[in-house]
Amino acid sequence: MILVQNLTKKHGKQTILEDISFKVDGGELVVIVGGSGAGKTTLIHALVGAEKVDSGSIKIDNYEINKLSTSQVQAYRRRIGIVFQDYKLLPKKTVFENVAFALEVSGHDKAFINQRTTEVLKITGLEERRNSFPRQLSGGEKQRVAIARALVHAPELLFADEPTGNLDPENTAALAKLFLKINKSGTTIILSTHNKEVVNILGGRVITLDKGKLISDKKRPTTK
Ligand SMILES: Nc1ncnc2c1ncn2[C@@H]1O[C@H](COP(=O)(O)OP(=O)(O)OP(=O)(O)O)[C@@H](O)[C@H]1O
Ligand SMILES: [Mg+2]
Repeated sequence: MILVQNLTKKHGKQTILEDISFKVDGGELVVIVGGSGAGKTTLIHALVGAEKVDSGSIKIDNYEINKLSTSQVQAYRRRIGIVFQDYKLLPKKTVFENVAFALEVSGHDKAFINQRTTEVLKITGLEERRNSFPRQLSGGEKQRVAIARALVHAPELLFADEPTGNLDPENTAALAKLFLKINKSGTTIILSTHNKEVVNILGGRVITLDKGKLISDKKRPTTK
């Protein structure tokens, strides 16, 4: 599903990603770990087409990500889900509207939007919050809205960069379990974190970056 070959990216003289290669099959859950500045965000940005790399290639299904034009990147983005650390919710819209919005812009009819939005609010445990505004939510709830929004168009592939970065341990664990559930329902997930508890809960495959290099790629048993 994803084939990354010899990715290299530099900023001036600093090498941010150095000769990164890996392959991800459909249905996998891949956790990317590494210290601050290791290149996790840069790698995820490259995978979602938000940042170009200097050399190497990223093939995702039929897309050659590093070569897409702006309009092709937009088309590709509509097929994937992306969750960032800073939720980027629309403050004047309710939880329901924030999630439904992603379907409205792609022109679905009202009945479908209502049904599908209700379904993802249920998956993410937000049914009772559907009429709340972002300012009325906790950090964990806001992050779940961001996940619901990324899932609403049923992407096969979900990217999340440090999705538990702002959360307390309890919310962090709950969120990690939610990602596990989403993966078990068939969605391929690539997620970055530097939280050990998240890695333990998710188990599965862990790719470690260190100063832009991929230093290990291992499958781990899940402990929870
Ligand atoms: N636009 C930029 N210009 C110059 N250097 C940059 C730029 N963006 C990132 N970097 C550098 O690239 C390196 C990797 O950054 P990146 O944000 O990918 O790390 P990270 O692993 O996500 O770190 P964190 O855990 O702190 O989020 C860092 O040394 C950073 O300073
Ligand atoms: Mg980062």
